[in-house]
Amino acid sequence: MADWWKKSVVYQVYPRSFMDANGDGVGDLKGITQKLPYIRDLGADVVWLSPINQSGGVDAGYDISDYYQIEPEFGTMADFNELLQRAHELGLKIVMDLVVNHTSDKHPWFQESRSSRHSAKRDYYIWRNGFQGSAPNRMMGYFCEPAWEYDAKTDQYYMHLFAIGQPDLNWENEAVRREVYAMMNFWFMKGIDGFRLDVINAISKPPAAVASDGGKGANCENGPRVHEYLREMNRETFLKYDCITVGETPGVSVGDAIRYAGVCSNELNMIFQFELMDVDQDIYGKWTSKRYDLRDVKRVVTRWQEGLYGKAWNSQYLGNHDQPRCVSRFGDTSTPEYREKSAKMLATFLHMLQGTPYIYQGDELGMTNTVFKDMSDVRDVEAFNAYRLYVEQRKVFTHNEMMRFINLRGRDNARTPMQWSGETGAGFTRAEPWIGINPNHTQINAKAQVNDPNSVYGYYKRLIRLRREYDIITNGEYKLIDKDNPCVYTYTRVACGETLLVLCNFSAVAQSAAHAEALVKLRRATRLIGNYPPETAAADILRPYEARVYLLE
Ligand code: GLC
Ligand code: CA
Repeated sequence: MADWWKKSVVYQVYPRSFMDANGDGVGDLKGITQKLPYIRDLGADVVWLSPINQSGGVDAGYDISDYYQIEPEFGTMADFNELLQRAHELGLKIVMDLVVNHTSDKHPWFQESRSSRHSAKRDYYIWRNGFQGSAPNRMMGYFCEPAWEYDAKTDQYYMHLFAIGQPDLNWENEAVRREVYAMMNFWFMKGIDGFRLDVINAISKPPAAVASDGGKGANCENGPRVHEYLREMNRETFLKYDCITVGETPGVSVGDAIRYAGVCSNELNMIFQFELMDVDQDIYGKWTSKRYDLRDVKRVVTRWQEGLYGKAWNSQYLGNHDQPRCVSRFGDTSTPEYREKSAKMLATFLHMLQGTPYIYQGDELGMTNTVFKDMSDVRDVEAFNAYRLYVEQRKVFTHNEMMRFINLRGRDNARTPMQWSGETGAGFTRAEPWIGINPNHTQINAKAQVNDPNSVYGYYKRLIRLRREYDIITNGEYKLIDKDNPCVYTYTRVACGETLLVLCNFSAVAQSAAHAEALVKLRRATRLIGNYPPETAAADILRPYEARVYLLE
């Protein structure tokens, strides 16, 4: 199949926290290679590696200082070659993270760029004069900081949409674009199977964003030349290979998605939208204890399912290295039973939608958020910056409030080590890990689940197998059944006269399933999967966090 990535399941590995083979407390490539059979057994076909390139170490690898080298903490190029070869032997494809909106400030390009106003690489980055003694404009970056940093050496400011150590590349400069495409082709020639493109819709800056006029700047998402750049990138790289591409694109609408990943766009295969991740935001963005309303989830998911149908391809995710654990956020961790049931329910909900599912490492075990007692337990630059801004500078949150929000929403929740076993070190490391291991690894771990068909892991395995067996999961047209129900999410997928019926109780209270049971009774129904034993089912009641899928003929 040409569009093989439509039927694939992607598993995201966060290298720093996956498996530490050499015992220094940090995950590494050899560790990943060791665990590839685990990913294959689960049934995923594609492995996306968060950045493994040499890094400045400011944003956990998302600040690359050499695109052609492996981060020494993770190993060597020989280790990478081995990983790639072993993956391909197992039938797994490897997707790398492409971080080219910015580099590390330690990248030689930036070192040279900042050395003088006349340096040959000056124009690789975005340098501007200050405005009346302060930054060119008042634009803020994504990490609770101004987007401009003053550099005394040349008395100008450089733009950084993320941390100070992540200067933005100047995509207007054709030489920059050539360098990027050459680097991408280098990795393709090594045999990788695709890229996940980090904040790729921020590469084209609108004039107001780069103006030195003291103004408020501008949102850089979906800027004026972004589609031109991506089409050029496609021609220079993707078009030449049989690959999978997914763009990380905050702030995109359905219409934007069709432009980026439409059947005729010649840009990307699919994008990650953020509307679903934004359903529980508040006035200070993610820093809140607000809980989502299922009706908002339905509104967003339905808009994307309907809007892209036949026009572009969806990606499906409930978590990644930038989000809290999905079972803590959308499910229920108040009891072990609810944790397990709700983890399976969320997986059912996601895997039966149209689009390529992305599983973040550990979600297949039902891993949860961890506990950060104070800021010394935290590692993430975003959380430190937010703490400084909201607690120290603006004083809108107390220390305790902010700790609560970090515990609920901080990115480090997803970055604690993979829980391979219940031993000290969780089977991840023999040393002191770079970030604390979740204390619940004694209960929640791979060893306890891989051979148990009733575990969360066993359930994921069955879900993934269903995708292989039933084309309707890839092709069927989505329809929402119960728009206003705040607890139960019911949808169907229809193709070739068949209907897939998906029922998900997002609450801890038993709910009526009468609306769906009526449908089931009219047709020949096969139950494909469910997270409760079928024999105990009262057909028209959905138990706490129950999920069921039927095929109606
Ligand atoms: C993306 C990455 C995130 C990183 C940011 C800057 O959002 O997923 O982890 O901090 O880009 O590269
Ligand atoms: Ca290591």
